[in-house]
Amino acid sequence: MTTKPIGVGVIGCGEIAQLMHLPILHELPELEIAALCDLSATMRQGLGEHYGVAARYHDYRDLLADPAVEAVAVCTFDHAPVVEAALAAGKHVLVEKPLAFTPEEARPLVEAAERSALVAMIGYMKLYDPGYVLGLERIAAIGRPKMIQVHDFAGRFDRYQQLYTQLRGADVDPAVIEAGRAAAAARVRAALGPSHAGHHDLYMMLLMLGSHDLAVLRGAFGVAETVSHAQAVGPTHLLAVLGFPGGVPALLEIAFGAQYEWWDEWMSVHGERDEVRIEFQNPYVRNAAALVRLRESAGQGPSERLLPGTPDTAFRRQWQHFAACVRGGAAPRTPLRGGLEDLELAVRIVQAMARREAEA
Ligand SMILES: NC(=O)c1ccc[n+]([C@@H]2O[C@H](COP(=O)([O-])OP(=O)(O)OC[C@H]3O[C@@H](n4cnc5c(N)ncnc54)[C@H](O)[C@@H]3O)[C@@H](O)[C@H]2O)c1
Repeated sequence: MTTKPIGVGVIGCGEIAQLMHLPILHELPELEIAALCDLSATMRQGLGEHYGVAARYHDYRDLLADPAVEAVAVCTFDHAPVVEAALAAGKHVLVEKPLAFTPEEARPLVEAAERSALVAMIGYMKLYDPGYVLGLERIAAIGRPKMIQVHDFAGRFDRYQQLYTQLRGADVDPAVIEAGRAAAAARVRAALGPSHAGHHDLYMMLLMLGSHDLAVLRGAFGVAETVSHAQAVGPTHLLAVLGFPGGVPALLEIAFGAQYEWWDEWMSVHGERDEVRIEFQNPYVRNAAALVRLRESAGQGPSERLLPGTPDTAFRRQWQHFAACVRGGAAPRTPLRGGLEDLELAVRIVQAMARREAEA
């Protein structure tokens, strides 16, 4: 007996939808693109023709009313209102990170998802990366960690965007986009409060680029208990010291701004004698899993080995897991609650930064 593919409605058909979600949904037999939604008519038409999808919507509420849509991928800029409506409409959800812009917006989404029998996952694809999974096994094998470091200096995105054909619609009124961004910025400023609002850009960087790092840490060590230091090194560069259960310290450094050609993102864990480092690839490169670098003692001297994760695309593994949750009843590895925990930590980091500046 064949199982019917899960009909997915893709809401927001921009860069990440075109580079990863749409081609993967098109390719995997357990899923199919049931409908498309974007503000741009050019994109709805171009992508609809390319993928052979007739159901095309301007308003996501119309897509949610389509009975062929069993699940949605939320790839817009502002996620919370779409996730709320999707859960209310009884659709399974995979929402791109960040879950929302503030913990206050995220909390009711988590509650609604947990009350429902729906699958609701946040798109922390790095947690599905075969190299990350392999790295976690190696970390568990070195015993109690003494020290953790996460370093994420985003390299240039534009080199990798050029690897793919992307459709861009110039038919969306820039005022509509600007109004959406301004409304989100106002919500963020309100959530951060007057004494922290000056760090709006760093907070947004933590949500956009840094939420992956917070998720990777949480996936390995649980929720951070303390933020003992946080510092704005530059307008898009931050340094923080977090404390994990058992008093294990983590040094976190994140920078964004296309300042380097190379993508430099890794998590390193030092045990008593060994070090495990998970080295992530540029997220826009398909079929490139993270590498695991092991530094151990061997006989009388040091040894260094590089273990490649099984080649695969983290986004593809994420969708396979989503299908297994919807059809097979598996528990989501990245439920919405994790997205809320990361937003709460992002706020604590910004608060610690502002506190330190006020004391200086
Ligand atoms: N997992 C990752 O590594 C990763 C990488 C890039 C982006 N993202 C996330 O994906 C999301 C989208 O990023 P992007 O780079 O694709 O942005 P983008 O601007 O290229 O695409 C967003 C698309 O959504 C459409 N849109 C916006 N509001 C809409 C609405 N209300 N209804 C219908 N369509 C709407 C826009 O027209 C646009 O085409 C962001 O939240 C971002 O954080 C994740």
